[in-house]
Amino acid sequence: MAITDPSKRLEAIPPYMFAELERKIEEKREAGIEVISLGIGDPDTPTYRYVVEAMREAVGDPSTHRYPSNRGRPEFREAFADFYLARFGVEIDAATEVIPAIGAKECIYNLCFAFLDPGDVALASDPGYPVYTGGPVLAGAEVSLLPLVPSLEFAPDLDAIPAEKLKAARLMFINYPNNPTGAVVPEGFFERVVALAREHEILVVHDNAYSETTFDGYVAPSFLATPGAKEVGVEVFSLSKGYNMTGWRCAAILGNAEAIKSYWRLKTNIDSGLYEAVQLAGAAALRGPRSEVEQMCSIYQGRRDLVCEALAAIGVQVEPPQGTIYVWAPVPEGHSSASFAELVLEQAAVVVSPGSMYGPSGEGFFRISLTTPDELLREAVGRLRAHLT
Ligand SMILES: Cc1ncc(COP(=O)(O)O)c(C=O)c1O
Repeated sequence: MAITDPSKRLEAIPPYMFAELERKIEEKREAGIEVISLGIGDPDTPTYRYVVEAMREAVGDPSTHRYPSNRGRPEFREAFADFYLARFGVEIDAATEVIPAIGAKECIYNLCFAFLDPGDVALASDPGYPVYTGGPVLAGAEVSLLPLVPSLEFAPDLDAIPAEKLKAARLMFINYPNNPTGAVVPEGFFERVVALAREHEILVVHDNAYSETTFDGYVAPSFLATPGAKEVGVEVFSLSKGYNMTGWRCAAILGNAEAIKSYWRLKTNIDSGLYEAVQLAGAAALRGPRSEVEQMCSIYQGRRDLVCEALAAIGVQVEPPQGTIYVWAPVPEGHSSASFAELVLEQAAVVVSPGSMYGPSGEGFFRISLTTPDELLREAVGRLRAHLT
């Protein structure tokens, strides 16, 4: 073994998918080709001004300069409790049912270490956010994929989960509005998940990254509003997308107090918490005016329509999504996800994400992110129309 050989654990996971995409873009750019990336979902509009102002003030407050506690500041926990009640009708005990996370990614990853042992199974939406599979593998556990079925409005068929996987399952990762499919939660799905989790003693992790980015008047619910959800689950709420705060690393875990305690216990051993000024800025974000969020949604809705129209023009029919910041579309006849993404890059110098990057059930689809400024997005869809019709 060489000095620099990584652990078997690290070898077991594929390289983080966007690293590969970034490499390809770089290659093109080095060759002098102006590539437009519709790959990564990272909001292009700035964090709301009132949040930045709150941060400015918080940074000047010496009480934020010391080690944060992983439990979080009361201002943060109370802002979340008030927000969950007003926005979702969910009662949260600010003392025991919410703590900060350094982004949803950290939270999802660490939940794997808090709850999975070798031999355990994590049930993971497929296609899905890569950490639902990478996290369990790094924790030495097994992943059982839950294919999201297009004819079930991109819900998994819970009856199709093999009995032995249910028996060994300890965690289940679900996410609505859903990345990458853009689907919103089908009627009755959360209720079915609660029943399944109760029967098989599985901790449900609902990744709520996109409840604030919705369109056409759709209002996304919290999983925790489902009767019985708090007994079997937690929700990870990220401010990244709804408040244009991806760089700030601000999220929270809410719900089952015992589960949150285990996550806290793990975190006290490995990180030192979310910078308290960010906690105060996050609290300000949640308490701020809704108009900023609404304006952001209308920007995405306009871009969504632009993309759906352009796709129709090149023969790709999609149902416009009611949530997230993505359009998920089937590849044209005769293509795989990878071959179509390759074609788009080669012919139009536009990057779309091949659906297969998000898991085997993503094969046959591609994803377009709506986080590109209007002008550039118009240029990108113009190129698709020009080169792919
Ligand atoms: C479904 C989902 N969960 C979590 C995240 C990461 O969120 P955060 O920035 O809070 O780590 C993303 C980011 O794209 C996502 O799509």
